[in-house]
Amino acid sequence: ETLPLEMHKVRIVQKLQLPPVEDRLQRMAEAGNNTFLLNNRDVFLDMLTDSGVNAMSDLQLAAMMRADDSYAGSETFTRMAGKIEEIFGKEFFLPAHQGRACENILAKTFVKPGSIIPMNFHFTTTKAHIVLNGGEVVELLHPEGLQVESTFPFKGNMDVEALEALLVEKGREKIPFVRMEAGTNLIGGQPFSLENLRLVKGLCVRHGVLLVLDASLLTDNLHFIKEREEECRDWSIRRITREISDLSDIIYFSARKLGSAKGGAICTHREDLFRSMRELVTLYEGFLTYGGMSVREMEAITVGLDDAMDEDFIGQGPQFIEFMVKEFQKSGVPVVTPAGGLGCHLNARAFLDHVPQAEYPAGALAAALYLVGGIRGMERGTLSEQRDAEGREVFSSMELLRLAIPRRVFTLSQVKFVIDRVQWLHANRHLIGGLRFVEEPKTLRFFFGRLEPL
Ligand code: F0G
Repeated sequence: ETLPLEMHKVRIVQKLQLPPVEDRLQRMAEAGNNTFLLNNRDVFLDMLTDSGVNAMSDLQLAAMMRADDSYAGSETFTRMAGKIEEIFGKEFFLPAHQGRACENILAKTFVKPGSIIPMNFHFTTTKAHIVLNGGEVVELLHPEGLQVESTFPFKGNMDVEALEALLVEKGREKIPFVRMEAGTNLIGGQPFSLENLRLVKGLCVRHGVLLVLDASLLTDNLHFIKEREEECRDWSIRRITREISDLSDIIYFSARKLGSAKGGAICTHREDLFRSMRELVTLYEGFLTYGGMSVREMEAITVGLDDAMDEDFIGQGPQFIEFMVKEFQKSGVPVVTPAGGLGCHLNARAFLDHVPQAEYPAGALAAALYLVGGIRGMERGTLSEQRDAEGREVFSSMELLRLAIPRRVFTLSQVKFVIDRVQWLHANRHLIGGLRFVEEPKTLRFFFGRLEPL
């Protein structure tokens, strides 16, 4: 068996502490049993997300020092635009402060009341922006994608037959664009195949509908395409990227995940689309050459996009995740398979089969894991959904606890500690009960909501 190997060395460190269990109990209660409300000082291993917490390289830090600060037309912008064009082949680039800001601009430009947006799977902020503008999200994930345990290599694939039927039924009048999400987040960081994207593009062209790619988790998807798709085995990461990009009319991404630790971008090769979105950048984000980002962030993204084309860099996260998944499978801990990107996803529904979905098993598991190990994961289940128009609970198709692996942040021994704590918790799972809201915000309730044990 091969151990994952870190292809970098650590040259700046941040001290961690593991507070005693009595303190953890108190902190979790103060945080309303919501891991979003914990203070980082009380957390030992922060596996909440890979967003904004990836490690920077020496080259990124160096680039940040030469940032060109000017309101308009800075060299920093020119460098970032050049890198985006080099990698994606898209000549028009709009900067935004993060991924959801791109989603705001896309939704305001293309979504009208009654619009339907088909996608392989929703992401929380994406859906919120589409709904806010009067649109409806229709998820057309390949049926295998919702099987928590599976051997299907591309669980992020679109069900192309269902997409075709919807396009025939609703047409371009109702459907402004089709959205594909790389490294599909909420089903466990699962990739689509290049072959599937080609089929989706073919349907989009036939029906005159745009194809929008959410590339926030592109690096994981690239890694899996190279590993799992026969045709691409000998291709460079750059070549796969360009192939994906050429199929997409618009690409947007959260640079907090792709390339760096902050920022966001929209790019396209079509000037008409660029022009239709451009004023919203100046309205909501900032002038067109910074869009709410600092020039230092932009320099870091420019270098980070090169890292994103480096196999050593993009393979490490998935390799750590695969290691965790294999260890969990050996000891009977239920996890999402095959191993995806972004993080290791525990199947909270099976882990806590005595906790009904209405009592938020994934949220309960997140709180429990903090108590036993000072580890902060993120609920990705019913808590992360929104109630429907009548105020009824919308049960999530999966109840997951995500243990994110920020890029180049944790060592293998820390990962082994997490495995040990999760295994202990699984052996003692009868100790864990459900949760109920004591304070429930209307939108994106998982961020601020407070809960108590039942
Ligand atoms: N799209 C995807 C696929 C994402 O994973 C995220 C963020 C966004 C869009 C929004 O980007 O945070 O920069 O505004 N995902 C983070 C996560 C929040 O933890 O999974 P953002």
